Amino acid sequence: MKLSGEEQAMLAGEQGKATQKAMEILVALGAIYDAKHMVPVTSVQIAGVSYDNLGEAGLHFLTELEQGGGKARVLTTLNPAGMDVENWQALGIEAEFAEKQIQVIDAFARMNVITTCTCTPYLTGNVPHFGEHIAWAESSAVCYANSVLGARTNREGGPSALAAALTGRTPAYGMHLDGNRAPKITFDVRADLVENNDFGALGKVIGEHLQFMDGASVPYVRGVEEATLEQLKSFAASIVTYGGAALFHMEDITPEATQHDPPGERVMITAADLIGAKSEMTDGDAEDADFVSLGCPHLSIKEIARIAELLEGKRVVKEFWITTGRPTKHIADKMGYTHTIEASGAKFAADTCCVVAPIKGRFSTLVTDSAKACYYAAGKNQFQTILKPFDEVVYAALGGRKGETAQ
Ligand code: F3S
Repeated sequence: MKLSGEEQAMLAGEQGKATQKAMEILVALGAIYDAKHMVPVTSVQIAGVSYDNLGEAGLHFLTELEQGGGKARVLTTLNPAGMDVENWQALGIEAEFAEKQIQVIDAFARMNVITTCTCTPYLTGNVPHFGEHIAWAESSAVCYANSVLGARTNREGGPSALAAALTGRTPAYGMHLDGNRAPKITFDVRADLVENNDFGALGKVIGEHLQFMDGASVPYVRGVEEATLEQLKSFAASIVTYGGAALFHMEDITPEATQHDPPGERVMITAADLIGAKSEMTDGDAEDADFVSLGCPHLSIKEIARIAELLEGKRVVKEFWITTGRPTKHIADKMGYTHTIEASGAKFAADTCCVVAPIKGRFSTLVTDSAKACYYAAGKNQFQTILKPFDEVVYAALGGRKGETAQ
């Protein structure tokens, strides 16, 4: 790989040990993917922040980089941690875990990383524009950034994203190159999509098709008439979870769709496919569930406003987590939504989520509107899952169905 003078200086250790280590990681990665050169990045999102995933080895790695003088050179934010940094006791997190999690976040802070822990950095100020090269490590955010914003990022791992932050570079391969962004297969959607979970189900159906294609994982989706930001974040999270797609094009909706013709290979998706996908993610009755969560990916302020509207003057009868980024929670505080939501007995779980928090064994059945949460709740935490439309998830927390909620 051809390195610039500055990149060579980083590799030679002239800019400190941490920068050297970071450049070594990127050069090794570039060699694996046959990158010809590095590309400057303007934004980084680091995943692998939960102490539940990192453990002592991860914390040690961070401490080494921090003590080696590592400093983020570009705007860098964090993925969800294993707990709400302000409200962890109310969520039943052990003090010993909290102490370790704070050490992780502090190590990032000392490296100039903005310690906003969210998987929707594009809702809280880390918003790359069209064509911008970035290095993001949260899969749902990667898919959203590539597809909806038109930015360019591979699915980084935690170490390679941190290395990009410390050097301001990433190897030029994969999604950074024009040729790899062309669609390979067309999905014709013949179904009405109304709710977030419809988009999540669509992501699962398309994702599972893509798994059987050899490296041709960029889909071109037609037949979706409109999609909100929230629906696109659900779709992005689902298609990357079930199919590994870091990029999709959606006709008349995503910016790069206009640059391509729909590929000749076609698959039709019907309403029956979506019903089938939803039923695969639903195991049991919401009334018997013991855990309810909204916010995978992290909630927008519009979604939090809707939850507050539905919970106004009511009491929840189940453990109900509202997961979002801290800046969005601050807006909710200001608007009075937090007060309404907490008065109902529901709990904010800012900075974290129902997947990365250490809650395995605490609950048996999760109700959610998120196809991605269903996948990981079942796989990581061994919960049964029930997928519902957004409003019905709130009704489930209230112990009833639409129109028969507890007061
Ligand atoms: Fe975000 Fe956690 Fe879902 S990191 S995308 S809320 S699994």
